[in-house]
Amino acid sequence: MTERKDDRLWGGRFEREPNAQFDAFQRSFAVDRRLLPYEIAVDRAWAKALEPIGIFTAAEVRQTLGALDRILERAKTDAAWFEKTGTGAEDVHHFVEKALVEELGPFGWKLHTGRSRNELVATDFRLLVIDAAAEIQRQLDELLNALLTQAKEHLSVPMAGMTHMQHAQPILLSHFLLAHAEAFTRDIPRLQHAAASADACPMGSGALAGNSFGVDRNAIARELGFSRITANSLDAVGDRDFALDYLFALTGITTHLSRLAEDFIIFASQEFSYVILPDEYSTGSSLMPQKKNPDAWELIRGKSGRISGALLALLTTLKGLPTSYQRDLQEDKEALFAAHDQVADMVAVATGALASTKFNAERLRAAASNPALLATEAADYLVRKGIPFRQAHDIVGKVLRQAEKQGVSLMAWPLDKLKDISPAFEADLVKSLRLDAALSAKKVPGGTAPESVRAAIADLEARLNKKAIKTGAKL
Ligand code: ARG
Repeated sequence: MTERKDDRLWGGRFEREPNAQFDAFQRSFAVDRRLLPYEIAVDRAWAKALEPIGIFTAAEVRQTLGALDRILERAKTDAAWFEKTGTGAEDVHHFVEKALVEELGPFGWKLHTGRSRNELVATDFRLLVIDAAAEIQRQLDELLNALLTQAKEHLSVPMAGMTHMQHAQPILLSHFLLAHAEAFTRDIPRLQHAAASADACPMGSGALAGNSFGVDRNAIARELGFSRITANSLDAVGDRDFALDYLFALTGITTHLSRLAEDFIIFASQEFSYVILPDEYSTGSSLMPQKKNPDAWELIRGKSGRISGALLALLTTLKGLPTSYQRDLQEDKEALFAAHDQVADMVAVATGALASTKFNAERLRAAASNPALLATEAADYLVRKGIPFRQAHDIVGKVLRQAEKQGVSLMAWPLDKLKDISPAFEADLVKSLRLDAALSAKKVPGGTAPESVRAAIADLEARLNKKAIKTGAKL
């Protein structure tokens, strides 16, 4: 049949034209055009698979592959043509079919033999998610390197470690930076898991029931770089768990980014002045000339909400869908594409802002030198003299209460007065009540002692090298 009443993919059984508003409403080309490189790759694999089953001759395969390559090339170089052909297309699959017919005449309609857009879209989307996860993984590697570089450069800078935003115990700035790095290392296996769950090829699943022409599903999967085929055709056309996994991995990253941002926003405030915001990653006020605002971090914190929103949007769309393909599934891509783009920007901006942030070592050291931060050391000192910890805690609490009343520091208390409260206090107390002693006491693995932090840096570098970020094609 070479006569068709229109170029819709499904017009035959319809008497009347679709309502114009509905027609615009159901089209997805504006969003799924991004799948084009994957769609062409899948089309190429399909064309090859049609030869052994006698649908295409070898010459027809060659002819189809040539046309598909020209279509991809033209879409990249001829924006006006891409727009024009796309305007009439329902989605990216329709676009390629229209373009194929433009190239090859009615023969272009033959490629769709035995297959459905339901399996095509699932396959394209899986390929995109695999690449997207690899791209974010590469970016995370750079972010981790920026944190590691800053950690290595600030090994001698102490700071006041906080819990509840209250001064707690002294730590090294490097230890603080490595804490953030550690959180990001947990995002890597999540991205890898998302890529692994996307790594199964649905082609051959048809619209829902499978393929009647006996295509070699494994050959198609291999050709496309998948390591396996999906197990059940009905599940394959309706499964978007890989997209959920990817969005979950992204929310992990943005949750960590948002917490990092929060720390830097606070540290940049005049009250803290721990960090000097880089001009390149800050903006000013249109009214107050003195202002330098931490907008990079604020926007990273602000945008993280969108990513959690995207995960929730897809979860909500999927919940309650009957088995197999439903058109609701078309809504899976827009939020994921946007989330991916946002995260790519967020990680890149965070990496740049981190790398160019200067730390105010004097302020950090001054805060770390608050004697109250050594109260736990004083209690530990008494423990080493044989006093049970709860009692030691109490004794030091008393000293601090009296010192506070008299407006003097714990350090300024003469030994004989301390002895009045507990005879266990001796002259060697001063050795324990020093910032560097407090730091080096924490020499367990994972602690903040300089030697532990140096070991942690080496350990993190070794773990990152082992993970050797897989390079995938760029989106
Ligand atoms: N554009 C659709 C999607 O993104 C694929 C087309 C399937 N359409 C259909 N009527 N079965 O999910």
